[in-house]
Amino acid sequence: MNQVTIVDHPLVQHKLTLLRDKSRTTKGFRQLAREIATLMCYEVTRDLSLDMVTIETPLRSMESRMLSGKKLVFAPILRAGMGLLEGMLDLVPSARVAHIGLYREPESLVAVEYYFKAPQELPDRLVIAIDPMLATGNTAVAALDRLKEHGATDIRFVCLLATQEGLANVHDHHPGVRIWTAAIDEQLSDHGYILPGLGDAGDRLYGTK
Ligand code: URA
Repeated sequence: MNQVTIVDHPLVQHKLTLLRDKSRTTKGFRQLAREIATLMCYEVTRDLSLDMVTIETPLRSMESRMLSGKKLVFAPILRAGMGLLEGMLDLVPSARVAHIGLYREPESLVAVEYYFKAPQELPDRLVIAIDPMLATGNTAVAALDRLKEHGATDIRFVCLLATQEGLANVHDHHPGVRIWTAAIDEQLSDHGYILPGLGDAGDRLYGTK
């Protein structure tokens, strides 16, 4: 199984409960998703490597640490992944962004691509794919396929909710991709919804239902 990290930080779990609640307004849902994304970003970047650099403080020079390597890439899967992007950029404002346009075909639940635009030099960058819901895993697998076709080799995946089926699907196709999630839910409905879940993340973020 891919290494899966459940982010059990009390603030993440508290905010996730508020997010799941069906009485949450669109505004409240969007704000909470952003806040949780910032906290998830903190966890997924916890082991990034650092270089020593020399800087001048107002008083003297010193050796201090800075992130090494090229700017990292956040890769939101449209459209619900956009609901997590800004929260992650709040923490890493210089990150690049790769947009991946995929939707789930309602009958087959197969992921269909309609847009892909990524920064240069993907092979040299850590890419963090983001989608709030890892349900069947088909969309995640398709997004990871596309990122690898464009040269990405070092990829992580961040979601809010996952299912065992979705995690297993990603593992079967992309065993090297580590996953961070705030929870693993019990079940997948016949229509591909996570249960108990939080409903359709895109609709709740953008008020489209
Ligand atoms: N996508 C969603 O938005 N919600 C689910 O429950 C599953 C996939």
